[in-house]
Amino acid sequence: MKISVFGMGLMGAPIAMKLAQSRFSVTVYNRTAEKLEPFKKLGLGTTSVANEAIAASDYLLLTLSDFSAINAVLFSGTSSDLIGKTIIQMGTIAPKESKILEKKITELGGQYLEAPVLGSIPQAKSGTLLVMAGGTEMLFSECLPILQVLGETPTYIGKIGSAAALKLALNQLIASLTAGFSLSLGLIQREGVDLEKFMTILRASALYAPTFDKKLQRMGDRQFENPNFPTKHLLKDTNLFLQAAEDAELNAGGLIGIRNIIEQAIANQLAELDYSAIFEIIAPATEP
Ligand SMILES: NC(=O)c1ccc[n+]([C@@H]2O[C@H](COP(=O)([O-])OP(=O)(O)OC[C@H]3O[C@@H](n4cnc5c(N)ncnc54)[C@H](OP(=O)(O)O)[C@@H]3O)[C@@H](O)[C@H]2O)c1
Repeated sequence: MKISVFGMGLMGAPIAMKLAQSRFSVTVYNRTAEKLEPFKKLGLGTTSVANEAIAASDYLLLTLSDFSAINAVLFSGTSSDLIGKTIIQMGTIAPKESKILEKKITELGGQYLEAPVLGSIPQAKSGTLLVMAGGTEMLFSECLPILQVLGETPTYIGKIGSAAALKLALNQLIASLTAGFSLSLGLIQREGVDLEKFMTILRASALYAPTFDKKLQRMGDRQFENPNFPTKHLLKDTNLFLQAAEDAELNAGGLIGIRNIIEQAIANQLAELDYSAIFEIIAPATEP
């Protein structure tokens, strides 16, 4: 089975690698050619011309940053390019955007499955991403051999837009839990409360989330380099959630406050760092 993977970013690179280690014949596309070098060395097909990657395979797996990147890659060629192609879209986009893609791709003779993922680089490498799929059940079954390489138990959610919405609902929690924990940790530090006692009580309580321990070291050391998921993507997903919340007539006032903090983080050169860097805005370092 031939698969072209589009976007050799933080997620696309390990996903392409994982598929290539499995039984698939993989071609990789990236707009910036330098990121293709490691794949060239491994003998994979590589190209920085989107239409060549489209032509190379029947299955086109997208790990691009956002809706505009997807449009740039899929729809710049001739209208016949997508006939008979199956597009598996793994980036985080809005339900509305996913529905637009389905319509355009179907009109051009292709099939479309949305398959956003929870998990990051380590999970992509180990094939343990949580894959959520939206589209027809028949197409989900057809794509299952691919999805199962990336996540042990891909879950069919429902029609197009449903998996995209579920993914946004989860990423809203990333923003809210990280902001909430940052604020509490900030007070603990400022008041000189014993950190281990705070964490021990928190861990034993119903308020605990594992992400707190995952980010504790970074926040404690104020080290946010080498991100799996950078702050700029958290802003993108928060904006997508806020738009979806407005459409659904939800009161997302709390998240608007958090977006303001994330925007301050971006303005303070934290865009490319791990998203837990919002701690720097919520609890800035004080003079010793
Ligand atoms: N990182 C994570 O932990 C994670 C987890 C789950 C979901 N996601 C989602 O998965 C998607 C990819 O994330 P990522 O972390 O891999 O992002 P990333 O490292 O920023 O990579 C983005 C990719 O998109 C390409 N791209 C951007 N604009 C383009 C355009 N106009 N034309 C062609 N290519 C374009 C980039 O190409 P260049 O190299 O040329 O810039 C790059 O290959 C995002 O939607 C993200 O929200 C990420």
